Amino acid sequence: MLQQQFNAKKNQFQNQSVSGIGTLFSIQDATIEYGKIKALDNVQFKVSLGEIVFLTGASGAGKTTLLKLLAGHTDLTKGKIKRPGADNFVSMIFQDHRFIERKSCEDNLWVSYDPKIYRSKNEFHKEMMEFAEVLGIKDRLGLKIKDANGGLKQKVAFIRAMLCRPSVIIADEPTSSLDYENAKKIYDILNLYNTKRGLTVIWASHNKDLVKKFNGRIVHIDKGKIIYSGHACFI
Ligand SMILES: Nc1ncnc2c1ncn2[C@@H]1O[C@H](COP(=O)(O)OP(=O)(O)OP(=O)(O)O)[C@@H](O)[C@H]1O
Ligand SMILES: [Mg+2]
Repeated sequence: MLQQQFNAKKNQFQNQSVSGIGTLFSIQDATIEYGKIKALDNVQFKVSLGEIVFLTGASGAGKTTLLKLLAGHTDLTKGKIKRPGADNFVSMIFQDHRFIERKSCEDNLWVSYDPKIYRSKNEFHKEMMEFAEVLGIKDRLGLKIKDANGGLKQKVAFIRAMLCRPSVIIADEPTSSLDYENAKKIYDILNLYNTKRGLTVIWASHNKDLVKKFNGRIVHIDKGKIIYSGHACFI
């Protein structure tokens, strides 16, 4: 079943790329103002199906604002935006994880269970355990969220997003509480899913050393403007 879904996604990805309709997000002349602050200032931005895009920039540069705009959580003051259609499921990881605090990590992961996606609860559970194993948190899934540290919460948030089997993942500094080795495990999963399933990734990160190791596009924002968009080796 998993293999069939892989193949279906892969075909969809290849067909759309070949026919040139692979643009998932497109933003034109986008400005978002909060009073006198221009959080985004006349931004042009496109993301194609199957791309990995890392958003970098100093604190206050506009990364979260851009991600919220892509996710449909905020509106433009000026400009235009095109978002993916219903056939592309977008998973989001924002900084407020909206967990059920008094419930266990595992219970919080079950929130992603959808009988339309999984053949059985067993299948879902198996996939959950595979992610937990790779990220080294299998023995901590019973811990209540209120007792979990920041790193564990970030891993749970990542797994919860991946268990929706998205075709696009949008994430706002999702590894900020993790050390290099643990963050790399998450980046490796993203790379794998990108290669095997055409997962599109839009990922804000402060970790320049790590993002440079991946074959993604870096989009650097400064004071609400995109000042660089290209391969990591030129930054
Ligand atoms: N809801 C809001 N109301 C007023 N100002 C806001 C709001 N959201 C963002 N801003 C301002 O817009 C600018 C961009 O903020 P944003 O949160 O997008 O930056 P960021 O790059 O995500 O920063 P950080 O790295 O600290 O998360 C900042 O000057 C911020 O203070
Ligand atoms: Mg931010």
